[in-house]
Amino acid sequence: MSKGLIKTPEEIELMRKCGRIVADVLKLLEKSIKPGITTKELDEIAEEYIRSQCAEPAFKGYGTDKKNLYPASLCTSIDDQVVHGIPGQHVLSEGEIISIDIGVKKDNYHGDGAKSFAVGRVSEEKLRLLKVTEESLYLGIAQATAGNRVQDISAAIQKYVEKAGFSVVRDLVGHGIGRSLHEEPPVPNYVADGSGMVLKSGMTLAIEPMINAGSYKVKFNSDGWTVTTADGKPSAHFEHTVLITDSEPEILTK
Ligand code: MF3
Ligand code: CO
Repeated sequence: MSKGLIKTPEEIELMRKCGRIVADVLKLLEKSIKPGITTKELDEIAEEYIRSQCAEPAFKGYGTDKKNLYPASLCTSIDDQVVHGIPGQHVLSEGEIISIDIGVKKDNYHGDGAKSFAVGRVSEEKLRLLKVTEESLYLGIAQATAGNRVQDISAAIQKYVEKAGFSVVRDLVGHGIGRSLHEEPPVPNYVADGSGMVLKSGMTLAIEPMINAGSYKVKFNSDGWTVTTADGKPSAHFEHTVLITDSEPEILTK
């Protein structure tokens, strides 16, 4: 049994199950994302489903500050919130965009995925932001093959996003995933120093572009979690957990 970055076939099978639950939750929530529902209600729907699958919400209780562990199953980040928005009494209203991020733990392995949705009709700019962010994720995933480097993923995302006139958040990155929610290597969505790790078949990565309509700069809220854009413009976030293979990557959260 390996506990390393290269997963065994048995570990991969467990991660497929986690990924499937993540995908199911996002599909389930999509139907409820309408004006009038609160983010807390979305969180309850997600938690109930996850537990019905004999799994646990991986974000709940996560964190380094023991006095402020993450309190919910989902991260619900609206408009200028980039990531880690905490579900609560906020009532969704037409014109907003919302990122739903979800982590699942089952049999000691993890799946992590996110998708951003429009609430009712939204502006042209927000629609384009959603589209470009999702497309950038798939361009990044296309580079996630054995022999490539992490930086090939980052470069593909950054190039596409910046050509579209949007910006890539620097202060938060994707990550390896497996027995832990966050493992090596970091997976930035921009080209950082160094060339990054060479990808090998059997690695599992959470690739998650966080893309801002305006500046890439973000602010960390005093609640200890919520990250917002510094300029107040909207942000979008899409994420998949992906298995590196010798050919096409396998998206575990599809
Ligand atoms: N997908 C995010 C991440 O990988 C969600 C983490 S939320 C937390 O960082 F609560 F677990 F921190
Ligand atoms: Co993640």
